[in-house]
Amino acid sequence: MKKIEAVIRVEKLEEVADSLEALGYPGMMVSHIEGHGRQKGLVEQFRGREYKVSFLPKIKIDIVARDSDVEKIISAISRIAKTGEIGDGKIFISPVENVMRIRTGEKGEIAI
Ligand SMILES: Nc1ncnc2c1ncn2[C@@H]1O[C@H](COP(=O)(O)OP(=O)(O)OP(=O)(O)O)[C@@H](O)[C@H]1O
Ligand SMILES: [Mg+2]
Repeated sequence: MKKIEAVIRVEKLEEVADSLEALGYPGMMVSHIEGHGRQKGLVEQFRGREYKVSFLPKIKIDIVARDSDVEKIISAISRIAKTGEIGDGKIFISPVENVMRIRTGEKGEIAI
């Protein structure tokens, strides 16, 4: 199992969610976050130098999925989230050791 954490532009949430709906996914979390990448948020020019480090609103989507579903999920997200401009976001993929469905006590892939 893997956790896919996709940070995307706020305005892309609806379209990404629609595409994931069509594709099928086990479940997701959506968080409204703030952050910055390597441009350090909004950068202002002042007397020839760049100033101000700030945090821009983004959406983070977390999906825990079977290993075999990861590729189709990340390609759907990236296809829609990409504008080609800086700030399109990032996708982090990490291993998940276990999952438990609280209602039934099921564990492992069946609980996803
Ligand atoms: N290394 C990182 N660790 C944690 N979060 C990150 C990291 N890089 C980016 N993020 C998150 O992703 C959001 C979007 O990042 P962004 O797309 O600007 O990345 P970037 O590396 O600067 O790429 P680009 O040059 O295309 O802008 C950030 O606001 C932050 O929330
Ligand atoms: Mg950036």
